[in-house]
Amino acid sequence: MQIIKNIEEMQAFRSEMRGSVGFVPTMGALHRGHLSLIRRAREENDHVVVSIFVNPTQFLPGEDFERYPRREEADRNICERAGVDVLFVPEAASVYHDDEVTLKAPPYLGYVLEGHRRPGHFDGVVQVVMKLFNLVRPTRAYFGKKDAQQLCILQKMVEDLFVPVEIVPVDTVREEDGLALSSRNVYLSPEERTRALGVSRSLKRASRLVMAGELDTETIKVAMRETMREIDTIEYIEIVDRGFRPLKRVEIGNTIILVAVKVGRTRLIDNLWI
Ligand code: PAJ
Repeated sequence: MQIIKNIEEMQAFRSEMRGSVGFVPTMGALHRGHLSLIRRAREENDHVVVSIFVNPTQFLPGEDFERYPRREEADRNICERAGVDVLFVPEAASVYHDDEVTLKAPPYLGYVLEGHRRPGHFDGVVQVVMKLFNLVRPTRAYFGKKDAQQLCILQKMVEDLFVPVEIVPVDTVREEDGLALSSRNVYLSPEERTRALGVSRSLKRASRLVMAGELDTETIKVAMRETMREIDTIEYIEIVDRGFRPLKRVEIGNTIILVAVKVGRTRLIDNLWI
């Protein structure tokens, strides 16, 4: 596995690559969720590039940028074992310039729900992903459905800006008890972790209700809220279509149920695609 820290070296290495390139952008502290993206990329492409870059522009002031988990050596071993060809770990100073051209997330999709709670977050995401796409020039790029809004915004970015990359959505990987894997789960104390299970349980409850024929979104949201009684703060429970417009009734095949909560100091998101 080639470890590349330098922008010019990445560009030179890429221009020598023949065949398809699968790309998995990450912020590191890799877990089985990331691994499932990497495996999928490995299956579908001649080459696999993984980037690890804790992107400063997508963190808001007061968020966890400084304490975000950094596990360089463990991440390197995981990538090596997974058959990654190139691990790209650029320095922030080489990725960003002074007074630079900036992209903006879509005014609606980028500023509801997560975008409303974290204004500017998705601007930082599109900015860095576009830069990474231009450096890696992937055939396909893999993103988790766990970050549903991010995935939809990036899908829209490649459509709107005619970026020649295929975005591949990958299902959320969960612990056996239902907790969606996240690099931020390490912030949870054992007691908080137990309470956090309310989130996945509420989504399971929603899924059972829909399967039983309950399509009224208000009824589903009330049942979900009840299941999350032990959660400190429910930031939102939303039932939206694929364009993130709120729905009165669930539309099978076009619905995402999204939850954001705080357990202790830790913010968690999860969702269910119906
Ligand atoms: P990060 O949080 O490290 O996530 C990298 C990728 O892994 C994202 O596409 C995310 O959706 C996916 N992922 C995270 N947890 C997952 C899980 N439990 N199951 C499946 N996939 C999961 O998302 C980012 O980094 C950044 O915003 C990034 C896109 C790299 C831009 O900086």
